[in-house]
Amino acid sequence: MIHIRAMTMDDYPAVIDLMRNTPGISLRDADSRESTARYLERNPEMSFIAEVDGDLAGCVMSGHDGRRGYLQHLLVLPRYRRRGIANALVERCLSMLEAHGILKCHLDVFKTNEAAAAYWQSQGWQLRQDIDRYSFTRPGNQNA
Ligand SMILES: CC(C)(COP(=O)(O)OP(=O)(O)OC[C@H]1O[C@@H](n2cnc3c(N)ncnc32)[C@H](O)[C@@H]1OP(=O)(O)O)[C@@H](O)C(=O)NCCC(=O)NCCS
Repeated sequence: MIHIRAMTMDDYPAVIDLMRNTPGISLRDADSRESTARYLERNPEMSFIAEVDGDLAGCVMSGHDGRRGYLQHLLVLPRYRRRGIANALVERCLSMLEAHGILKCHLDVFKTNEAAAAYWQSQGWQLRQDIDRYSFTRPGNQNA
């Protein structure tokens, strides 16, 4: 049976392990224990874990800046895919964001991650053609 619950820092080691072993997910210094704790504290009850019969099956993180929502690190273990777990995780994020007045959410997908692109498009997410994302990293922090 699938159970979705809020992620806590107790989940951090298992979640990082899962991310590390999933192609298509990028881990940076921003995924350190300290940064993740800060993220969860700033965005309480907006990141989720899916368990199947007590086993970690997937996760997602989301948050907002007061204007727009941001979703990241959605992943479901291969053996649990195509059972609606990603959709259930994303829905929990979007409904929590909506409860906080956030009705639009963005996410990044590596251009090489064709499966993720197919997933998001199948769920009605719009691939933006009108925006280029620019990022700036403070010098000396290339893995930030
Ligand atoms: C993308 C991912 C999260 C989907 O997880 P999932 O639990 O299998 O997705 P769901 O079961 O909720 O899928 C719901 C629907 O989305 C679509 N879908 C899911 N995976 C798809 C894929 N690989 N290609 C095309 N459509 C897909 C289907 O319409 C599916 O419904 P169906 O199974 O009835 O056909 C999972 O494949 C994954 O973890 N991939 C690796 C990590 C990753 O790339 N994450 C995204 C980072 S941006």
